[in-house]
Amino acid sequence: MTTPEPSQEIEQLRSEIRAHDRCYYVEAEPTISDREYDRLLENLKQLETEHPELVTPDSPTQRVGGEPIEGFRKAAHAVPMLSIDNTYDEKQLRKWAQRCFEGLDGTYLGFDEKLHDLDEQESVLKGRRDAEAKQIRKNLKLAREELQKNRIATLDLAAKAGFPIDGGYLLEPKIDGIAANLRYEAGVLTLALTRGDGRTGDDVTANIRAIRSIPLRLVAHPSKPFPEVLEVRGEVVMPMPEFQKLNKAMVAEGKEKFVNPRNATAGTMKQLDAAVVASRNLQFFAHGRGEISGEGFGSHDDFLKTLALWGIPTNPLTQHCESIAEAWDFIKDFGSRRTDLDYGVDGVVIKIDRPDLQNRLGNSTRYPHWCIAYKYPAEQVATRLLKVDWQVGKTGRLTPRATMEPVFVAGTTVQHATLHNLGEIRRKDIRLGDTVIIEKAGEIIPQVVEVDLSKRSNKAQPLKPPEACPDCSGAIEREEDGSGKETGRYCVNPECPAQLAERLIHFAARGQMDIEGMGEKIVLQLADAGLLNSFGDVFALHNQREALLNLERMGDKKVDNLLAGIEAAKSRGLDRVLVGLGIRHVGSTVARVLAKHYGSLDALLAASQEDIQSFKVGEKESGIGKEIAASLYGFLHSDTGRHVIAELRDARVTLDMPAAEEAPANQIFSGKTLVVTGKLEKYTRDEIHELVARHGGRASSSISKSTTYLVAGEKAGSKLAKAEQLGVQVLSEGEFEELVREL
Ligand code: IVH
Repeated sequence: MTTPEPSQEIEQLRSEIRAHDRCYYVEAEPTISDREYDRLLENLKQLETEHPELVTPDSPTQRVGGEPIEGFRKAAHAVPMLSIDNTYDEKQLRKWAQRCFEGLDGTYLGFDEKLHDLDEQESVLKGRRDAEAKQIRKNLKLAREELQKNRIATLDLAAKAGFPIDGGYLLEPKIDGIAANLRYEAGVLTLALTRGDGRTGDDVTANIRAIRSIPLRLVAHPSKPFPEVLEVRGEVVMPMPEFQKLNKAMVAEGKEKFVNPRNATAGTMKQLDAAVVASRNLQFFAHGRGEISGEGFGSHDDFLKTLALWGIPTNPLTQHCESIAEAWDFIKDFGSRRTDLDYGVDGVVIKIDRPDLQNRLGNSTRYPHWCIAYKYPAEQVATRLLKVDWQVGKTGRLTPRATMEPVFVAGTTVQHATLHNLGEIRRKDIRLGDTVIIEKAGEIIPQVVEVDLSKRSNKAQPLKPPEACPDCSGAIEREEDGSGKETGRYCVNPECPAQLAERLIHFAARGQMDIEGMGEKIVLQLADAGLLNSFGDVFALHNQREALLNLERMGDKKVDNLLAGIEAAKSRGLDRVLVGLGIRHVGSTVARVLAKHYGSLDALLAASQEDIQSFKVGEKESGIGKEIAASLYGFLHSDTGRHVIAELRDARVTLDMPAAEEAPANQIFSGKTLVVTGKLEKYTRDEIHELVARHGGRASSSISKSTTYLVAGEKAGSKLAKAEQLGVQVLSEGEFEELVREL
């Protein structure tokens, strides 16, 4: 027997390892033990050490490259990465299926052609008033009525059958992860990009290579050669056990925990050191395609199955359905199973399975018309309310925070929830000892939805709001709405230590002074050490180097970064300072309007309360009313206000605003007319009208041929029908939102 060449032996080992990877990660059916696998990998490493000239980047030993990178390069997507439109109930889902059916079914489309024919025949008669023309017109009218009747009957029948479409629908779990586009050239992974803004993403190739379930080289398959260029899209996720392990380790290192697996995945993908990614056991599920050279696939189902042959992990829980009725049954059934999975699934994506039909339906600017996501309602669980604490926020507002018996909901154990304010507590009639139903808003922040009154014991006690500040014991002020109902309580002691810490956290955070190296943890650490007792103290920290270095987990480098961050933050400008101070009712919009109008803090200080509440921006009201003006004026001319301003001046913080030319708004609606109909959730009609006008368009109340867009909300009626008839582009509220998101 001859000994094989080292190069042959190496290639042999590599393909063996790739095949095992495929069995393990794609089929979930390992064919060898972990020990045997490790031995193969060790052998390969050994041979590669002996023959370094034979090492190639696609070798399974080369997942984590050398040094951490400096930052992420941006690169353009070969094909834009679109988003998916969402639905929340069966009715909306059926509406989507109906739209697909109407756009695809041959018989149905035939009616339109025939109707068009009739129109043509009628137009030939133009101007003729003779008996023959009259007769033809009459016949045409009858024919039209007949066709319309058949059209409606066809649609009725289709609706009853659940809008069957050739090739059917493919259903996939909607995976709550981080999207990535993987590019393979000649079977080798060459580039991985995040979604970014859909046109360009971050180059995360080094990190993607560190995910072991993603092949660096595709596994060749005899009957299905892979194309020269293959772009695969999918979700990177962190399995629940991995997430829990990671958070434990973060706590042990004194670091902030991740709130959910999705954030942990995002945080991991942002690592500059791929070795960190490799240590976290991320997974990948492919669900879509980007650029692909050569011949297409017969169906999306076929595409996914082929990916699996090549070693790319796909989700095993897909389901093919013939009708939307079948799809709905699957969605209902899957709803109760999804929470048992060890990765987050927040819905089901429903796709037209045949790629040629997908192409016929096409895309809107943001979404494909051929797929839609059904999102499950937030998971709700019951638990008992044990205690309510009142926390002091940065404006002095007291916020009730519930402590409950710990329960597992939407992926994590929850013990605390915000109760928002006193009004909310009264409205929901929440009492101590009650059984409360909680859910996570946006799958992150726990909320009390309601009380289960059937479980209320007669010992349940109404909640009493505090009569003094729970932190400094200072006086409390009540806030009431117009009718005298109490809506909130405030600690009005400006020196209240609880407020100060909160105010400083807000001051240093992104959007305000954006001080690098001064996150919540550091602010609290510095405040605890007595180094921060006022805003001015932030800018005096450079005199406290020694004290800083004495703090735990503070080295030279960290202190340098912190001080540099503070220095850089001084020149953010007046608007950012105004928001940073956390004055009640002065948020970022108000601050920008003020800074633009007055130009400097001095001018603002010289203004009367009257002036602040009545100045105009161009022809229009500034939006700053009595309440805002009173709060701002009150702060600026209070002892605390004067003191804070003096400190900022001393520290040479920029307190004015270069009068920038107002950039003309992007004119995306130029020459376009838009009509709104139906019930909208996020926008009022006036808001949409204003947006459209500002960006060059015209809003109208009736549909005509010259209408560009119809924004159709819930219960859109005749206008929607007319728009469809005239071929006017119809946008859902979500689509409209996407359209104007970047403005
Ligand atoms: S298909 C053209 N299928 O959800 C859009 N996307 O909210 C094709 N997602 O951007 C996407 N699971 O990152 C598709 N089974 C699935 C998915 C899925 C999760 C992500 C995807 C998309 C986002 C939209």
